[in-house]
Amino acid sequence: MMLAALSPLVTAGIVLCAVPILAGVAQPYVIWLKMEILRATNHLTRWRDRAQYRYKDAGTFAWMFAWYKMRLDPMFDDLPQLLKLAPTPRVAIDLGCGFGVAANVLLEWFPEMQVTGLDPNPFRVKRANASFAARGTALVAAAPDFEVPGLPDQVDTIFCLDMIHYLSAADLATTLTRLRNRLTPGGFLFLRSPVPPPADATPWRRWRGSNVPHPRSVEQIAEIVTASGFKLIESRPTTGNPALQWFIATA
Ligand SMILES: C[S@@+](CC[C@H](N)C(=O)[O-])C[C@H]1O[C@@H](n2cnc3c(N)ncnc32)[C@H](O)[C@@H]1O
Repeated sequence: MMLAALSPLVTAGIVLCAVPILAGVAQPYVIWLKMEILRATNHLTRWRDRAQYRYKDAGTFAWMFAWYKMRLDPMFDDLPQLLKLAPTPRVAIDLGCGFGVAANVLLEWFPEMQVTGLDPNPFRVKRANASFAARGTALVAAAPDFEVPGLPDQVDTIFCLDMIHYLSAADLATTLTRLRNRLTPGGFLFLRSPVPPPADATPWRRWRGSNVPHPRSVEQIAEIVTASGFKLIESRPTTGNPALQWFIATA
């Protein structure tokens, strides 16, 4: 009745605004319903769905963050290939774990794996902890002083994903040396870092590149990794995003 009293143009405007807003509000519940149906019918078999379900008690923000991260970040296309360079991870550290999305995907890929996530942000750590459940712990800790009680003495795999740009050169060297000392012989480091975007990168990527607190080139990162006692065995850009570089190193 009320809409009929408005001009067609105003009505169209209201409908056009309301549809995306309602869709946005409904999306977490629609995904939740889908996950619950998959679980109830024993169809929670795909890694993305299983990693998503880990966030069922982690709040709406982390639930949606995980949903988009697993679909938009090419990390999850690259990692299966890169992980073939290393033995199966069993005891891992994820330094700068954030909400723990990468760690949760790894937990689904490697059913034997246990993870300790470390991050200075208590909001993210709480969500990561809830999502790891019995498969790990997330602790509030900031590199280079990340060696808090509860951290395993020795691990076989270390992930540092999109976080070393928060560290000065000195702090990065200290962090990598401390991580190296926790790695078992033959253990692996999987590190990804922002690097300067190529000249022909999109304006968005160039803007992102200009906001990195401690920008470093591929060569500079490789040098610090090697000087910290690692043997660098692979360095390559992320698929589809040369402004994010992978560094794979062994102890
Ligand atoms: C871009 S997010 C990446 C999160 C996660 N690794 C991922 O790939 O989704 C960067 C993370 O690094 C964390 N961080 C910032 N400074 C840090 C430090 N000094 N030590 C450890 N983590 C840090 C932030 O809190 C944030 O969660």
